[in-house]
Amino acid sequence: SCAPLATPAAPQHMVHAPFRSFGDIHQAKEFLKEKEMPLVIKADGLAAGKGVMLCMSLEEAEAALEQIMAERIFKEAGDRVIIEDCLIGEEASILVVSDGEHFVILESSQDHKRIFDGDLGPNTGGMGAYSPAPVVSAQLLERTKEEIIVPVIAGMKKEGTPFKGVLYVGVMITAEGPKVLEFNVRFGDPETQAVLPRLKSDLVDLMLASCDGTIGRLSLEWDQQACVCVVMSSKGYPGSYEKGKEISGLGSISNGLTVVFHAGTKRKEGKIITSGGRVLGVSSKGETIAKAVKNAYNNVQKIKFEGCFYRKDIGAKALKKN
Ligand code: GLY
Repeated sequence: SCAPLATPAAPQHMVHAPFRSFGDIHQAKEFLKEKEMPLVIKADGLAAGKGVMLCMSLEEAEAALEQIMAERIFKEAGDRVIIEDCLIGEEASILVVSDGEHFVILESSQDHKRIFDGDLGPNTGGMGAYSPAPVVSAQLLERTKEEIIVPVIAGMKKEGTPFKGVLYVGVMITAEGPKVLEFNVRFGDPETQAVLPRLKSDLVDLMLASCDGTIGRLSLEWDQQACVCVVMSSKGYPGSYEKGKEISGLGSISNGLTVVFHAGTKRKEGKIITSGGRVLGVSSKGETIAKAVKNAYNNVQKIKFEGCFYRKDIGAKALKKN
């Protein structure tokens, strides 16, 4: 007889925070009264990484609902909100490339979402990142794979919508283990700027294997050096900021361990000028995270533009773990 396809057993505990979704501000406010603080309120649509509000009190939670659903600061992305329990732990990003059935997990990374040093201030798209993330131990990665990645890839296949491409698994490493914060069907920014410089295998081969269904035959080779990406942003970001500032010093980055990724820049009359909030990502490798941090900041200091802002503590969280 023919055995059914093995479906991974669902983990016995929840692999995400308990949550409810609301399209009506009054119902959402009523629900808040039953909840303990802190909690997290998210715009349900896309909000450029800025749609998550951590609320420490009922007043803050009500204000968040007002901003998202009444003032509509994220426009239609805030038509619905998610209200979820606050998970305590450290975040990590696990990038997975799938061909619909098999997958490879890229080296781990962690980004720094808040605008100011010490993880203070509002969330941004990401002010820097490092890879590997020491918080993701081999055992934790195995749990993430078995409890989250395998069921998701197998589940999408079973539902007739196999997933080919990059799956970004944002996890919170809690005392109970890894919990899903978010999935994105894309690379992470700026995590990718810290992960891909470490990939020795050809990225094109990986992408083609994802399309062709041959990921199972692929094994990736990684540079054992660490990589740290420091984002240089425009003063005022993630709020309003000025554009059009000339960037100098880009030509002085040439030590082979550093790549400068352009995010919010453009060319004007032969010059490179700023054209966005997050302007550049300066990624440097080093034997250790500490050396990569040093190398990245040495290079950041060579690049100048008016109103330039960057965090001074990218990688610090990783160093505390070592
Ligand atoms: N750095 C967060 C993201 O790419 O979603």
